[in-house]
Amino acid sequence: MSTSEATVINPLPSPLQGTAHVPGDKSISHRAVLFSAMAEGISRLEGMLDSEDVQSSIAAVRALGAQVDLQKQPDGSLAGTVTGWGAAGPRQPEGPIDCGNSGTTARLLMGIVAPWPITVEITGDASLQKRPMRRITAPLMKMGARFEPAGQELLPMTELGSANLKAITYDAPMASAQLKTAVLLAGVFADGTTTLNEPAPSRNHTELMLPDYGVPTTAGTRVAAVTGPAAMHSCDLRVPGDPSSAAFLACAALLKPGSRLAIEDVSLNPARIGFARTLERMGADIATSHKGQDGKEPFGTIEVAYTERLRGCEVPPQHIASLVDEIPVLALVAAHARGVTVFREVGELRVKETDRLAAVVDGLAKLGVDAWEEGDDLCIEGNPDLVVPDGLVLDSQGDHRLAMTWALLGLTGTKPVAVGHFESVAVSYPRFLDDMKELCA
Ligand code: S3P
Repeated sequence: MSTSEATVINPLPSPLQGTAHVPGDKSISHRAVLFSAMAEGISRLEGMLDSEDVQSSIAAVRALGAQVDLQKQPDGSLAGTVTGWGAAGPRQPEGPIDCGNSGTTARLLMGIVAPWPITVEITGDASLQKRPMRRITAPLMKMGARFEPAGQELLPMTELGSANLKAITYDAPMASAQLKTAVLLAGVFADGTTTLNEPAPSRNHTELMLPDYGVPTTAGTRVAAVTGPAAMHSCDLRVPGDPSSAAFLACAALLKPGSRLAIEDVSLNPARIGFARTLERMGADIATSHKGQDGKEPFGTIEVAYTERLRGCEVPPQHIASLVDEIPVLALVAAHARGVTVFREVGELRVKETDRLAAVVDGLAKLGVDAWEEGDDLCIEGNPDLVVPDGLVLDSQGDHRLAMTWALLGLTGTKPVAVGHFESVAVSYPRFLDDMKELCA
């Protein structure tokens, strides 16, 4: 990649200071659109993330007959109504549903379509067409849905729903909230109780939200269940700020000398803020304070300040699901810390929007930082005296989280860094660069 194809990210002119707000949580925004589309009646939603991924979910439910009337607000969020198809069920779409880059849209959609007698071709962009889908189709097939070609791992594929879905008990082979949600959403219309056991707790937004849509739901530490058939009704909700976006502001403040930020109205769901706990263990000046609840989602403030001495730490397997999307940016922080940081059992990173394990190791190597894979572990030997090489070019490969991670290196350092395919930040945080610049005004 040459510098001409990349976006040059210049160092921020001054420390990050003051109060920050991040856009609405992506996982909750997807679910708000999708669950409201499934429900009977009109749901009122506010604080919704307006990003390419969420627009993929909006387009998908429109194709299936939901009416979405969400308007851009002065703060950049979306607010308005979704009128669901409810008991009538989704309509047969006219063409394939293109989920773009969004794994959440594609996988949750499979669960949504499963209990209805419609045939839906599901596809996505080049990245999504490389991501594993059998983890979703396998349990849905046990319930009675069919996929063509049968047993295929990759999109595009066609799903044939069934009006006679069976409730199942399923032991998920990996901790995946997308898998859990797809099975539970199919279970909403199956006869009986559908139970999903997982090897480690994945994010629990689905279990927290479904009762407010009228679905009998139970949830434990590594188990969630719904009892169907349920009549889903509409629900009004406000989406809290996205901790995964907040993590980039927090890490920027940690690395940029003199910075001090208060990031307000962020979801503090424990299943999502593992990054804050890990940064604390690395010696970071970071604290969270609870302010209230959006529905059942706790939200509050993350306060963070520049920390000169960070140390490496070991992140155990049971913490990984709570920070899985933050590993690239935490790896960048680890690269600045004294000692070795090890993220245990992060093989799932190989099947995210890119192979994030390989991308992090390659990117840090270009910085002169020793990072390596040991089986499914990611190890980084940090260097507190890290000097960014002149003319550094890092490719995000169109992966939004890598684009923001590499951009942070330019923003918080003293030399420009060129980031390939930087425009992919629009997948989850379109105003990433503007927000960073405004915070050092
Ligand atoms: C998500 C779950 C996570 C996460 C993804 C969003 C969700 O993936 O990486 O960005 O909204 O359910 P898993 O399905 O692997 O948990």
